[in-house]
Amino acid sequence: MLVAHGASEVVVAPGEVLEDAALAVEGGRVVAVGPTAEVVREHPPENAERAIDAGGKTVMPGFVDSHTHALFAGDRSDEFAAKLRGESYGDILAAGGGILRTVRSVREASDEELLGNLLSHLDVMLANGTTTVEVKSGYGLDRETELRMLDVLARANREHPVDVVPTFMGAHAVPEGRDADEYADEVVDDQLPAVAEQGVAEFCDVFCEEGVFSVEQSRRVLEAGVEYGLTPKVHAEELSRLGGAQLAAEVGAASADHLLHATREDAEALAEAGVTPVFLPGTAFGLGAEYADPAPFVEAGATPAIATDFNPNCFSRSMGFATTVACVGMRMAPADAIAAATHGGACALDREGDGTGTLREGSPADLQVLDATSHVHVPYDFDTNRVECVVKAGEVVLDD
Ligand code: NIG
Ligand code: FE
Repeated sequence: MLVAHGASEVVVAPGEVLEDAALAVEGGRVVAVGPTAEVVREHPPENAERAIDAGGKTVMPGFVDSHTHALFAGDRSDEFAAKLRGESYGDILAAGGGILRTVRSVREASDEELLGNLLSHLDVMLANGTTTVEVKSGYGLDRETELRMLDVLARANREHPVDVVPTFMGAHAVPEGRDADEYADEVVDDQLPAVAEQGVAEFCDVFCEEGVFSVEQSRRVLEAGVEYGLTPKVHAEELSRLGGAQLAAEVGAASADHLLHATREDAEALAEAGVTPVFLPGTAFGLGAEYADPAPFVEAGATPAIATDFNPNCFSRSMGFATTVACVGMRMAPADAIAAATHGGACALDREGDGTGTLREGSPADLQVLDATSHVHVPYDFDTNRVECVVKAGEVVLDD
């Protein structure tokens, strides 16, 4: 048993923040949460294997980072400088850089190198309070390398305390010298059957974008994925408005992500279909682009998520930083940004049903203890990582 008591704040769930509160954990789940006096009466800290005096501290759910491309090799830091000189993300990709350059690096890398890279990124994510992270394939763009990436994701999930949720993204870019339509067919006819047989991937994602995959090509890939039991996700309306959000609603996607150019109608269609809008404020920050506006999505009744989008174009592994940019750039209230980074992330990964992203009784004991008197410090203290301790499935996995 683990008991954290006397916390300045326990963030239980969206809209539920307790002061001078305690939380008890047993068998990997939260078994009690409430006022310290009540919780310690039932679960005395002196009987616990681990008692945390959380005086002056905040206890909150571990972050659920629902959109990353964290498995890669190579270095694209020079593209950061090129973009600052005025080259666009699309120009760089069209010239064989960007995603296509990472594809060359990943094809050349060994499995051990890929795994080592990913594990070191997961260490940084854990140190910043993340307990569940979605990671996409999509830097292989051929059957063999896509399967290799998914296999490395499964290994990382076994070897690292952070839960790794694997997404197949064979339709992340059109390989050099290939036609988008013909390549989409290859994803459907050649890659997807092998991915399904391998049995690692849970989601299937597509970059639905001008100059990448059209709505029709994206639909083909996502519908074929559904046939194989993979839940759709869509990179939608990132650089232009193409119709990816409406597609996400039509195919019953778990999430539609980016949404910088989405309209009110798109927001309503997603909310109606129960698709989680995932905002990636770090990407807009890094590109110097205009931020997505969460207001129409919230007004339409959707539950928004925010995620890091960690990838070579957006080198941030910190969900705390994502909350800062969500607050300052997207005008989200701190409590809403925290909700989007925890419960919202769980919704984007179809994991809200078991309480992931919350600390209610019965929720998985995935939590962080912060050296901060309130959750507001997460976005507010943007140069300091306040995470002191992380618990995953009831086990202390990081202890400063
Ligand atoms: O979500 N937009 C497409 N995919 C990634 C970027 C991947 C890359 O540039 O390597 C994204 O931002
Ligand atoms: Fe992405």
